[in-house]
Amino acid sequence: MIKSAIIGVSGGRARGLAEAYRHVSRGRLVAVSSRRRDKLEAFGSAFDVPARHTDYREMLEREKPDLVHVNTPPSVRLEIFEAAEAAGVPAVLVEKPLAIQGEDFLAIQAFTRSARVKIAVNHQLHFHPRRNWLQRKVRDGAIGRLRFIEASAGMNPAYQGTHALQAVGAFNPGAAPVDVFGQVSGAEGLTETPRHHYAPDECTGVINYDNGVSALLRCGAVAPRVIIGGTTNVHKRIAVYGERGFVHWTMHGWESRIDDKYERGEHVYAEEDILGQAAMTEAMIDWLAEDTAVHPLNIDSALTDFSVILGIYESALSRAVVTLPFTPSPDLVGRLRRALE
Ligand SMILES: NC(=O)c1ccc[n+]([C@@H]2O[C@H](COP(=O)([O-])OP(=O)(O)OC[C@H]3O[C@@H](n4cnc5c(N)ncnc54)[C@H](OP(=O)(O)O)[C@@H]3O)[C@@H](O)[C@H]2O)c1
Repeated sequence: MIKSAIIGVSGGRARGLAEAYRHVSRGRLVAVSSRRRDKLEAFGSAFDVPARHTDYREMLEREKPDLVHVNTPPSVRLEIFEAAEAAGVPAVLVEKPLAIQGEDFLAIQAFTRSARVKIAVNHQLHFHPRRNWLQRKVRDGAIGRLRFIEASAGMNPAYQGTHALQAVGAFNPGAAPVDVFGQVSGAEGLTETPRHHYAPDECTGVINYDNGVSALLRCGAVAPRVIIGGTTNVHKRIAVYGERGFVHWTMHGWESRIDDKYERGEHVYAEEDILGQAAMTEAMIDWLAEDTAVHPLNIDSALTDFSVILGIYESALSRAVVTLPFTPSPDLVGRLRRALE
């Protein structure tokens, strides 16, 4: 049984991380940290977590967790990776988005080159039972050779865009993005807040992959609505087209047409999500036990995805196609603010 810990339990997301442990057979939550004593005690009591710390560094040193969930804003990523590495923590699952802009992206990329700690990014939708089933169908050739992928999310790139982009990679595994052409609008999401999820309100990106597949990514108001009248957070979806047909997944259902046979069904997002979170955690335990069982959401693939988001920003600012991989130019968020405000 591995020992897990969460850093940052005063916000909304931490409950989902803890609840998933009901479905994790090989790990248990033994420690949590928050700088707010009241929130810490309330969370610790609600989930029966024995060790509670107001300083995450102290928690890492004293509790020696095997797996740490990093549930902080994207402005607090590298310092925790470095602290985990220094404390000998073997594995970290960090919430999305992995970074904010070029500077922190490059610093995290440099850190991973020599770090021993295994890091994966919490894009748990990869492990939602229904989506995972569709991913396996496509991987096993059910729709033939892939032609085109279209993914979207109702919220901006920092809140939901990385989920949509990860979905593209999940249905087109092993392919590398070679270029991206992007457009952005809207400065509300670039306003300074304690959550640091800075991104333009809307974005589109056309991405070409080295296996000939093209993808269209849409985030924000330009993304199709999945539920008429639903709030902005319920519209994540992906459609994958191949030579023999297509599959389409949304947060609430799925459909496919393969060789002229049409099928569809529904699911409850919250039920899928908790099982996905648990399965993602179990895959981390597999990676902990065996170096070759690399987690599909590993940080190298997440860095590649995040470089595509940065490529969209760079492309929109320069009005040019960005060839990947690329080195993002300085202060992308500041330049987006100046261009869009
Ligand atoms: N994967 C998903 O489906 C999903 C869903 C929702 C959210 N998320 C992501 O989950 C993350 C957290 O979301 P949330 O809504 O819980 O955020 P939140 O309400 O902003 O809470 C963030 C937590 O970060 C902690 N924190 C902030 N600065 C810190 C620092 N310098 N050192 C240590 N801890 C610090 C806060 O600590 P204190 O407790 O000390 O105040 C708080 O507990 C975000 O990145 C968000 O995008 C993912």
